[in-house]
Amino acid sequence: MKYSIPRGTKDILPDEALLWQSLEEACRRVFAIYNYNEIRTPVFESTELFTRSIGSTTDIVKKEMYEFKDRKGRSLTLRPEETAPVARACLENNLIGPDQITKLYYIGPMFRYERPQAGRQRQFHQAGVEAFGSPDPLLDAEIVLMNVQLFKELGIKDIDVNINSVGCEKCRPHFRKELKKYFKENVAKMCADCKERFEFNPLRILDCKEGKCQGPIDGAPASVDLLCPGCRDHFEQVVKMLDYQEVKFKVNKRLVRGLDYYTRTTFELLSGKLGAQNAVSGGGRYDTLVQELGGKATPAVGFAIGMERVIQIMTNDKCQMSNEGKIILFIATLGDEAGKLGFDLLSKAREKGIAADMDYAGKSLKAQLKMADRLGAKYVYLLGADELAKGSAALKDMGTGEQKEVVFDDLLKELRRP
Ligand code: HAM
Repeated sequence: MKYSIPRGTKDILPDEALLWQSLEEACRRVFAIYNYNEIRTPVFESTELFTRSIGSTTDIVKKEMYEFKDRKGRSLTLRPEETAPVARACLENNLIGPDQITKLYYIGPMFRYERPQAGRQRQFHQAGVEAFGSPDPLLDAEIVLMNVQLFKELGIKDIDVNINSVGCEKCRPHFRKELKKYFKENVAKMCADCKERFEFNPLRILDCKEGKCQGPIDGAPASVDLLCPGCRDHFEQVVKMLDYQEVKFKVNKRLVRGLDYYTRTTFELLSGKLGAQNAVSGGGRYDTLVQELGGKATPAVGFAIGMERVIQIMTNDKCQMSNEGKIILFIATLGDEAGKLGFDLLSKAREKGIAADMDYAGKSLKAQLKMADRLGAKYVYLLGADELAKGSAALKDMGTGEQKEVVFDDLLKELRRP
């Protein structure tokens, strides 16, 4: 019986894992520069957390949730995203309060039962941030800037920043009414899902990807043209700040997000180097979510990057990482006694933080040297019966080819020499 990986998931093998490590390091570094602290939440939550926050008429809630019952019959769901869990954790642990800004970040796997294709998996990873406690448009600008800086630090170019505003609970009803008026004329020629969306949540029509719906969607009213004065002013300030910070961006009136909790600013970063799934990051403001989840009214804003998509760009751009050069010392041994001494010296080196390895498969000397070469070891120390007798052995610098006789007790000192 052979087992294969579940559809829509991927193993990250050692070579690629190095790229992941450098991406994770860059995220942690940039998030820390902006004073965000890490939070880790469980991979599953009560199903209701997601239905309430993401919206019951979204694709995610309707057809993409990994929902299951536990042994006590409780409905749980593997997290499809992390904004709602972070808000839940903040409320449960009193991390948000008046006159306080709480800035958090996370890195981890998310789960959506989508149709797998390039750039779209059922288990994928996000690195994201959430800032709670301020309605200030400067915070919206900070989030976009941080996102742009992250891609700059990763050396990723050709990223388009798209921003929009979806308004608030005051102006959204008006927008909804205008959409209903507009789509009433068109809905007959649209897809079955859009016919349903027309009844229950016409805003979701704008997120439809069906070919035959694109014509009507193109001519639909745009939220950004129907904002109330407060939302208009907020949006203008975000735009002004981004201009001032010389961020290149485009106001995209058609930008709609797949989650219902957004208010005011929404944004996406798109890459020209990916196929249809070109969004590498998405986010925005969600000023009503915390209250929706039972807390006090707390404005908030955040984003998440899709790590697989970023890794794809890094791979295309040949940002190959390699394990080579990580091992400082390789101890080649011949015979059991030499093997034991080699193991002892290896342990001492590792204890002192020197990356070191040896062969455990009884390989010939030639094969061991090949192995050291493949690992990119900086030095090889060669132990056999003669060496045991004299108490010293040759330390070979693999870069220069030079050899030096070093007594066993001096090996670590020698390796640490500048
Ligand atoms: P989202 O746009 O659903 O937003 O996801 C963010 C990013 O995750 C996307 O831009 C994409 O790169 C990646 N992504 C989404 N689904 C998949 C998939 N099936 N396979 C691979 N990558 C995927 C959110 O999840 C919000 N929670 C972001 C946010 C944070 N908004 C405010 N704070």
